[in-house]
Amino acid sequence: MSLRLGDIAPNFKAKTSIGEIDFYEYLGSSWGILFSHPADFTPVCTTELGKTAALKDEFAKRNVKVLALSVDTLESHKSWIPDINETQHVAVDFPIIADDDRKVSSLFDFIHPNASATATVRSLVVIGPDKAVKLIITYPASTGRNFLEVLRVVDSLQLTANYSVATPVDWKEGEDVIVVPSISTEDAIKKFPKGVKVVKPYLRYTPQPNK
Ligand code: BEZ
Repeated sequence: MSLRLGDIAPNFKAKTSIGEIDFYEYLGSSWGILFSHPADFTPVCTTELGKTAALKDEFAKRNVKVLALSVDTLESHKSWIPDINETQHVAVDFPIIADDDRKVSSLFDFIHPNASATATVRSLVVIGPDKAVKLIITYPASTGRNFLEVLRVVDSLQLTANYSVATPVDWKEGEDVIVVPSISTEDAIKKFPKGVKVVKPYLRYTPQPNK
């Protein structure tokens, strides 16, 4: 099944490195990140899962629960985790889904047959508290993702979910944001008391409203 932005992420039950989970129950009212990696005991994946563990406090600060997935078995995940911990100097404690029957991969379209018939690609889906899909990124096996970029996007998603703003190119937390086109400049001036800088009628900046 192909999943698109705005779709409701499907629920599932799965075996994971921390036990059986029901996806929706596990997420509760948190944001969620579900990401696939091609295979256990591979170098790039080892660094990606290590970085995810290292950013545990950053995800927690943003109320995000993280889950990884590959089509390897539970036994494989369990014997790989000590290697990640040892080589990346972390303690992996987020669930890694053992999707050896490809049930979840197929729900989330994590196998791209023209890239690999058997392994999952590097896909990552951000899910909001409403269970709707907010972001989908897909990288090939040969390119590790940038998890600081994932945090940056989460910051943007959480900000823009609550304020009538969008974030410009390369935006980072604390920088000025863009007033969405649907708001008139007159209304923007009332809505954003920190000020509105009009560069063009369609390009208007305001300081980040929740800072
Ligand atoms: C890796 O995680 O290092 C990797 C996995 C599959 C293909 C290439 C690299």
